[in-house]
Amino acid sequence: MTTPGDDPSMATSTDKGIAVVVGARGGIGSALVGAAEASGRYRHVLSLSRSSEPALDVENEASVEAAAIRAAACGDIRLCLVATGLLHGEGIRPEKAIRDIDPAALARSFSVNAIGPALVMKHILPRLPRRGRSVLAVLSAKVGSIGDNRLGGWYAYRASKAALNQLVRTAAIELARHRPEALCVAIHPGTVDTRLSSPFAKAGLAVADSESAAVSILACLDRLTASDSGGFFDRTGERLPW
Ligand SMILES: NC(=O)c1ccc[n+]([C@@H]2O[C@H](COP(=O)([O-])OP(=O)(O)OC[C@H]3O[C@@H](n4cnc5c(N)ncnc54)[C@H](OP(=O)(O)O)[C@@H]3O)[C@@H](O)[C@H]2O)c1
Repeated sequence: MTTPGDDPSMATSTDKGIAVVVGARGGIGSALVGAAEASGRYRHVLSLSRSSEPALDVENEASVEAAAIRAAACGDIRLCLVATGLLHGEGIRPEKAIRDIDPAALARSFSVNAIGPALVMKHILPRLPRRGRSVLAVLSAKVGSIGDNRLGGWYAYRASKAALNQLVRTAAIELARHRPEALCVAIHPGTVDTRLSSPFAKAGLAVADSESAAVSILACLDRLTASDSGGFFDRTGERLPW
């Protein structure tokens, strides 16, 4: 016989709710899955990626919607972490100068870094529980801060993360009207040793391992209150400039 513990789609009366990690195969995403499981706070941690079942490709809205439906069927979504992102690869590398801007690379960066998480918000936020605390956190990047931009370069990544921050802020305002206890926030994970950051490793730069970054991110989210929804924070909980 299948018991509620075996089958995440069977909710129990003492339901702790579930956590969902989008981009669960990435460096930080996989560490977030591990940290959420180790916390013991969730009945189930649903790992979603382009190779999971169901597969979730943030550039394919039908796959995002199908995964959101599956997630909501598993239980109350108390935490959703969006850990997808693109800085380099497949003909994309961060621009050093304006002459390096390539329309296709710019469009792809916006597609993965801004539009993709917006689609996750579109399909997950209306499925958050109507009552009680729930958190949707999207991994952004401090280099997406316009106010903090002193070095220039990295046009596509910076601009797509700035767009992501605006999308998070806008969604949070709408979310508060229907789910006042819920939060939607953008988090800068810090520089973390992953496939995304490794080509840009520099001597003297403080780099965290993904496991400790994931633990800090979850601890930071725990400390945020509903009044912090719509904000942009680093993993210590410090508010970052837009
Ligand atoms: N590492 C850092 O120092 C750092 C600093 C600031 C911000 N961030 C942000 O943190 C987040 C996680 O980055 P990371 O360092 O963990 O990088 P990562 O190891 O490269 O992980 C990124 C993940 O995004 C997934 N992804 C890319 N395109 C996708 C798509 N169309 N649909 C679904 N998934 C897709 C990749 O999936 P596959 O596994 O299928 O390829 C990969 O698992 C990103 O948003 C990044 O911008 C990282």
